[in-house]
Amino acid sequence: MTETTANASILATFQARFGRPARLFRAPARINIIGEHCDYNDGLVMPANLALYTWLAIAPRDDRTVRVMAADFQQTVEIRLDDICKNADGNWQEYPKGVLQVLQAEGFELKGADILTLGEIPLGGGLSSSASLETVVAFAMLSCAGYDIDRRRLALMCKKAENEFVGVACGIMDQYAISICERDQAMMLDCRSLEYLPTPLPLNARFLIINSGVQHRLHEGGLNRRREECERAVSLLSHKDPEIKALRDVCMNTLKDNRTVLGDILYRRCRHVVTEIQRVRDAHQAMANNNADKLGQLMSQSHRSLKDDFEVSCSELNSLVDIAQNCDGVYGARMVGAGFGGCTLSLVESDKLETAAAEICRQYGKILGQDPWYHVVETSGPVQEVAVGSL
Ligand code: GLA
Repeated sequence: MTETTANASILATFQARFGRPARLFRAPARINIIGEHCDYNDGLVMPANLALYTWLAIAPRDDRTVRVMAADFQQTVEIRLDDICKNADGNWQEYPKGVLQVLQAEGFELKGADILTLGEIPLGGGLSSSASLETVVAFAMLSCAGYDIDRRRLALMCKKAENEFVGVACGIMDQYAISICERDQAMMLDCRSLEYLPTPLPLNARFLIINSGVQHRLHEGGLNRRREECERAVSLLSHKDPEIKALRDVCMNTLKDNRTVLGDILYRRCRHVVTEIQRVRDAHQAMANNNADKLGQLMSQSHRSLKDDFEVSCSELNSLVDIAQNCDGVYGARMVGAGFGGCTLSLVESDKLETAAAEICRQYGKILGQDPWYHVVETSGPVQEVAVGSL
């Protein structure tokens, strides 16, 4: 959908459904170039925002109800600001509910509103459709209540909603990128200090996203189990060295010395995180030097580590990555996001983009039984209000 069609369609639907004009907001999806499962280990990550959006139209109401209609689900939820109840089902409604609960708990005085959302981001695709929804709801509600928004606090509140209300033990990467990362760049984010370095994207190369067609459902616990394993490892290692507060503080030598203490599974989980944090540093260097070859190699190494050590890939993602890695013009490929399904990210020579995309989709289409969804990355700025006059 082009930007103008999405704008026009959501505002026209809002007018028809609620009988009054609305303000318009949007939050992007995010890709993570490298640094998977590092954020909740206080490590480094390399996200960028993707110009696929969760659109949101909003107009105030006179009462204390927030009615959210999700056009893509054809479902509406009515949330009473003074009585927000949780369901443990992890459905889309939990994200706006969680955000409204946390904003109010942090002292923001919100007003009732009618909201219409329209999502372009594939669900369960590892592109952060949930953080995009959380962030756009929070940003729009705070804007309508007249607050100046501190974007770092916005990200932290949205993460809190996902951790404490929805029950997914995610880190800060998605909400932080969507709240802050600018267009035409990635950010190397230090998830401990929350400091970041804007990082240039490679010239003459493009990122290609292909959906494996397997949807992940994070509230079912895959991410939470990995996080628990990392925490268990930290607890064992900190008995040996109290300076170890997170896997960020562990080096390969310490890990090797403690291989027996950790046992095989925890050792491999830790090895993924420790080597992946180093790959983020190396990727930052490669991107600063416009070295697409090196970046591609690091992405492919990251996939191997996620598959063999962290064990969050699946056979469909592995086939798609294999096909991409063997395709002419592809520098490297990996799964993206939490895993257990979702999309892959490939770095491709610009001149060979179309032929490579067609060839990967042709080969994977035979496995999937249909043409996969694919998308060439255009980056985006962070969550924002969209001027309606720009239609
Ligand atoms: C999900 C979480 C993030 C991060 C990634 C894995 O997207 O929301 O915080 O942990 O998985 O890198």
